[in-house]
Amino acid sequence: MQHQRSARLKDRLGKVAFGGDYNPEQWPAEVIAEDLSLMRRAHVDLATVGVFSWAQVEPRPGEFDFGFFDRVIDDLYDAGVYLSLATMTASPPPWLSAKYPEVLPMRADGTRLWPGARQHYCPSSPVYREHAVRLAEQVAARYGDHPGLVLWHVGNEYGVHVAECYCDVSAADFRTWLHDRYGTVEALNDAWSTAFWSQRYDRFDEVFPPRVAPAHPNPAQQLDFARFSSDAMLACYRAEVEVLRRLTPDVPVTTNFCCIWKAVDYWAWAPYVDIVSLDSYPDPSDPEGHIEAALNYDIVRSLKGKPWLLMEQAPAAVNWRPRNATKQPGAMRLGSWQAVARGADAVMFFQWRQSRGGAEKWHSGMVPHAGPDSRTYREVAELGAELTASPEIAGTDVEAEVALVLDWPNWWALELDSHPSVDVTMREALLAHYAPLFQTGVTCDVVQSSSDLSRYRLVVVPDLYLTTEEAARNLTTYVRAGGHLLLSFFSGLVDECDRVHLGGYLGPLRELVGAHVEEWYPLDNGGSVKVQLADSLGGQTVAATVWSEVVVPSAAEVVGSFAGGELAGRPAVLRNTLGEGTAWYVATKLERPGMRRVLEAALAEAGVRPMVAGLPEGVEAVTRGTSPGTRTTFVLNHRPDPVTVTLEHPVVDLLADRPAATELSLGARGVALLREAVSPETAAGEP
Ligand code: GAL
Repeated sequence: MQHQRSARLKDRLGKVAFGGDYNPEQWPAEVIAEDLSLMRRAHVDLATVGVFSWAQVEPRPGEFDFGFFDRVIDDLYDAGVYLSLATMTASPPPWLSAKYPEVLPMRADGTRLWPGARQHYCPSSPVYREHAVRLAEQVAARYGDHPGLVLWHVGNEYGVHVAECYCDVSAADFRTWLHDRYGTVEALNDAWSTAFWSQRYDRFDEVFPPRVAPAHPNPAQQLDFARFSSDAMLACYRAEVEVLRRLTPDVPVTTNFCCIWKAVDYWAWAPYVDIVSLDSYPDPSDPEGHIEAALNYDIVRSLKGKPWLLMEQAPAAVNWRPRNATKQPGAMRLGSWQAVARGADAVMFFQWRQSRGGAEKWHSGMVPHAGPDSRTYREVAELGAELTASPEIAGTDVEAEVALVLDWPNWWALELDSHPSVDVTMREALLAHYAPLFQTGVTCDVVQSSSDLSRYRLVVVPDLYLTTEEAARNLTTYVRAGGHLLLSFFSGLVDECDRVHLGGYLGPLRELVGAHVEEWYPLDNGGSVKVQLADSLGGQTVAATVWSEVVVPSAAEVVGSFAGGELAGRPAVLRNTLGEGTAWYVATKLERPGMRRVLEAALAEAGVRPMVAGLPEGVEAVTRGTSPGTRTTFVLNHRPDPVTVTLEHPVVDLLADRPAATELSLGARGVALLREAVSPETAAGEP
């Protein structure tokens, strides 16, 4: 059923969808009329409508007025624009909190968050949920049969402004959640190590969220509160989905996820969306923004192993950074194709028309304040035409032989306070491993430590601080059976309750690594240490930062050693043969060249080759299958200057009017779509 639902969008549109958030309630009728004709000109075929329209459609409690949207939605459909319709619950109207002040969320220090912006609700609030569900029901009953409806958009970016609520309503909900998880207060005491600092609880109702306290709150309590908070938002989301399923079982449901977002465990959420969608706002002034964007796209694609939707991106500048660079000519097109290359079946923007008033009036729109006679609108319309000309890409898969591990509980636990170093963070750890893979031209999926890994040739595991016995068994079994794995420092340390695995660090991963860690020497802020790589890794001396530790090998071979600092001469990089496979261990944060060198060795041993060999710096290559028998390699030049890429054999670039060639010239921020026929064996996974 989920499969049929999720196919609806592609079946109706027949191509990669193109459009954006449309907020017509901000505009008079004549502007809306112009919008429809400009959308047609720009090949827009999908609009997200109603995300912030609650106050408009329910101006007073229980009084609904959908007249305005009835007309807009019909007009959009007549203009060839399908509907991604919001349940309109993202920003409660002022009357809700005036009538029920307890719906307002609270910070850890007791500060109430007031209305006047958006997302001002406590996710656990029964009052909020009841009103949100009632509205979702009204919307679904009214528009569920509309021929233009292809997608439900529930809420908006859960957890982006209010990720955790510490109010009394949340406290009560947290206690229920703990009771469900632990059953007895004794089990809770055990899980939270409450013998420490006299924290033993006698009853569940003595427990609170980890509000601001005189010293570090109990780490296991913090970890459970992060789990609870993600679950509370999920329950809120699911309450609306239940209504939609009942009234419109054939319409797929999504909610827009955010890039590398700590508060929401997207693995836990993914089963409850039919299609994953993502909002992506790489910083145009960050020369490596495209690498982080690629990582995000690989994460969301992997959540369901299927095409996903780029639900929002900025046409030019955003308004919420301290300094808001605009996208240079060609950058919006490049970023859009990058998302498509990594599996997006929609290219959407926030928002269609740049607002005249309100907090986001300096955020770009597809139609900017200057109107359609503008660079932004012209680039939008050109991209719309280009996407219309390549319909066969929609619905196809992305090929990956490497997987990167990301577990949300590990992320929460890794960044708890009172740790050996504040410099060990998940985002940095992910990028330290992902960026060299990206630069080598190798595509990754993202998996959990407990996922089935058997289809991957190499699995990369950044800083797995929280390692469950189950995860350790899974990773070890994968390697024993012939898998290749690279693990980094500060791993195998605690269980799911943040209790240390005793008997030598690396705990349940000791057999996998063929070593244990005895103690660590975190580096000073900005400090670095040299690592001498063995001849088998090229023999260079490379730099490392953040971390060093005392590794005691039992079976592993040392292939890199600290060449200075407190640990001079001790192992820094290890390689262990276990069963049919190989595990690499990196005991410090190697800077990019060193990490690239080690990863290239691991890739070579695992038999992974890049899609395009010898890519120049700043050029990305990703392959997406198309119809059976063909595939498309996207080559994307993120540099501000032209570049030439040498291909193994001549290939046609679908976006350029020129014959097949082995020398591919790409202009600054240029894009090529190389279409090739593939034999059945190659399609089955041979490079
Ligand atoms: C997103 C949000 C949109 C808009 C956009 C601006 O986080 O979903 O409503 O605010 O940011 O960049």
